[in-house]
Amino acid sequence: MGDYTSMSTYYDVIMTSGYYDYKKIVDGILNQPSANILEIGCGTGLILEEIAKRNPAISLTGMDLTQAMLNIAQKRLESFSQVNLSLQNITDFSLQNQFECVFSYGGVWYFVIDGDQEPLLVSHLAKGEDNESGFDRLAAHVCREGRLLLGIQGPHFDYEKPISTGLIYSQRIEPNEVGFTKHYYLHSPSETLMAQTIHYRTYSFSQAKQLMSRYGFHFQPNSVGNGTFLEFKKM
Ligand SMILES: C[S@@+](CC[C@H](N)C(=O)[O-])C[C@H]1O[C@@H](n2cnc3c(N)ncnc32)[C@H](O)[C@@H]1O
Repeated sequence: MGDYTSMSTYYDVIMTSGYYDYKKIVDGILNQPSANILEIGCGTGLILEEIAKRNPAISLTGMDLTQAMLNIAQKRLESFSQVNLSLQNITDFSLQNQFECVFSYGGVWYFVIDGDQEPLLVSHLAKGEDNESGFDRLAAHVCREGRLLLGIQGPHFDYEKPISTGLIYSQRIEPNEVGFTKHYYLHSPSETLMAQTIHYRTYSFSQAKQLMSRYGFHFQPNSVGNGTFLEFKKM
């Protein structure tokens, strides 16, 4: 299901040590104007904070299923009155608004692009029926002609690297018949500080386009982006 409680305490230190490039991600979102934006799987709010600082006129909503992540987001974003946060699972979420732009970066869904191979859709939802419900709920919250942006990441592989004095982040990937399992660890010299396992489902690009088009989301191959997102339009 994608619960990040175990990682939440260490999430920011791992991500802001080079795992994601938050400035470039936000450039990719703000390359077209939107009056309101929803982030699905907003985590600790690092992207919402960057958008809120750059353009205070945009109404922002973040939703996530992990309370511990949202607690950190709440503190980070408390001075921004244009931001609302909501604890919900994508599979049955409901909000008052429809949005002109919805995005996810490493959140519920994302794409992995390996060299010149076709994009692979990666989902935090390991069950096929949960992906159907998730896109169904999402479709109810995107305006006609609204944009859905799903982040692009490089291929996942096993590695370990130092992230701050004395701490080592590592990850291990185990492929399975529907996708892969990813193990995340943070070690100090003397102990394991964090261990988290997530089961991901994957879809080939043609399966992903078929799945998403059933809920009105159509791939925009000619959209002008900076390579951080693939864009879909809600018809
Ligand atoms: C890798 S974090 C990304 C956070 C944030 N987008 C960022 O860039 O820092 C993935 C987030 O997706 C959330 N998530 C996973 N499955 C979800 C679901 N079914 N519904 C809502 N949020 C989910 C997790 O709780 C976690 O906070």
